[in-house]
Amino acid sequence: MKRSWNFNPGPAALPLEVLKQAKEAFVEYGDQGLSLLEMSHRSRAVERIVEETERLLLELTGLPTGYRVLFMGGGASAQFALVPMNFLQPGKVGRYLVSGSFAEKAYREALAVGQAEALTGGKAEGGKRLPDVRRMEMAPGTAYVHMTTNNTIEGSQFRDFPDTGTVPLIGDMTSDILSRRLDWTKFALIYGGRSEKPRPRRGDGRHRQGRTVKSGQRGHSGDLPVSHLRR
Ligand SMILES: Cc1ncc(COP(=O)(O)O)c(C=O)c1O
Repeated sequence: MKRSWNFNPGPAALPLEVLKQAKEAFVEYGDQGLSLLEMSHRSRAVERIVEETERLLLELTGLPTGYRVLFMGGGASAQFALVPMNFLQPGKVGRYLVSGSFAEKAYREALAVGQAEALTGGKAEGGKRLPDVRRMEMAPGTAYVHMTTNNTIEGSQFRDFPDTGTVPLIGDMTSDILSRRLDWTKFALIYGGRSEKPRPRRGDGRHRQGRTVKSGQRGHSGDLPVSHLRR
């Protein structure tokens, strides 16, 4: 089989072994005698897949107890609206590091829901330079801080994260979830669209690329972004 060099920053290359395993499950999942696509989403087998995926994601991120993984429809873009709907309290402001195109979209969606404010994130400089967020001041009345950890289109990635204290820090990690070790506990919520996939950091030459890992999961019923939610 001929494998193309795939440098897509979004839906990117996956290891061939993973694709082959998925191909087999497409026809018959385990010894169930039917395809994963033919199984009821309420069947025990599918419930087990969801439970195992949650357990593995928490294990890979090293998140302590108190976090849950939710598989939801609507892609990362749905979270642009769901974040302010869930985290914005009356009289408070959602603050957004506007560091790239997707960060800006998240910010604009929040404005449609309530009060939001754009923090300098580097978008104005074409996303070429990101601000130092290590000593970010937390303005009074901040409901949450939202950041896009990897700017998929601009190709810039935050290496440091602000210390927001008791203010929830929310990360759109669509295009770099699971790409590196980090202190995930800094985040109250992490989300990522499943259109971009978690992959190993290094594979054989064909899978390696400058951009790291893709986020999200595809489950039995299609469009399933991943969120880590602190209870
Ligand atoms: C960082 C980032 N956020 C959000 C999105 C939008 O994701 P979705 O297509 O799942 O809505 C993308 C898509 O590429 C992305 O890269």
